[in-house]
Amino acid sequence: MERVVISLGGSILVPGDGDPSYLAKLAELLVELTTSHKVFAVTGGGRIARFYIETGRALGAKERRLDELGIEITRMNARLLAIPLGAHANQEPAKTYTEAARLARRHPIVLMGGTSPGWTTDRVAASLARVVKADRLVNATSVDGVYAEDPKENPFARRFDRLTYAKLIELTGEGHTRAGPRIVFDPVAARVAAKAGFPLLVVDGRDLTALRAAICGDAFHGTTVSG
Ligand code: UTP
Repeated sequence: MERVVISLGGSILVPGDGDPSYLAKLAELLVELTTSHKVFAVTGGGRIARFYIETGRALGAKERRLDELGIEITRMNARLLAIPLGAHANQEPAKTYTEAARLARRHPIVLMGGTSPGWTTDRVAASLARVVKADRLVNATSVDGVYAEDPKENPFARRFDRLTYAKLIELTGEGHTRAGPRIVFDPVAARVAAKAGFPLLVVDGRDLTALRAAICGDAFHGTTVSG
């Protein structure tokens, strides 16, 4: 059975746009795929995490404390997705990779949120994929792939179908420097994935046809990062 880790951006889980129906359909898709795949889903924090982080920052909290707020929200999002997944997944999100690997023996789908301050859930997903020896890592995000520039700022930006890890790292810069960043994929996570050698598939997580194809390793609309 193939093992796939999915980094589910908070930006697609809880953007405040038809979230219950999206979460129900996403859960249905993940359950359907368990006949051929062991699925590990790492949930991001999105706008809810950003709200807590910005409020905490305005109150003068240090970065570490803000990261802790973010981590709690990523775990809340895992608990939210656990509702439609029911008995197919662990209801309490895994806190460590060892725990996630252990839970995989009992559950077809394993849910996990953030782990330690200074990280992103992309990085958690990349490290988890390394630990469980995943066949691929899927980044389900709010854009349909990696662009040469932010497509929300430049609508004519070029989208890549294929990319090397080196080019992705060059495009995404330094990575996590303060709580609540907004980049297509954390370059620190990209380094982990490049070293481990599995491909990274960047896909619009709200496009369930593309997401299904990416999880299955079929041709999909998005960006494949390898090499
Ligand atoms: P995310 O990684 O979800 O960041 O964690 P994000 O930018 O909101 O990503 P999307 O939009 O969901 O894809 C939210 C915040 O929680 C903290 C960081 O501050 C991060 O920005 N966090 C998360 C950690 O400190 N450690 C973790 O392991 C995970």
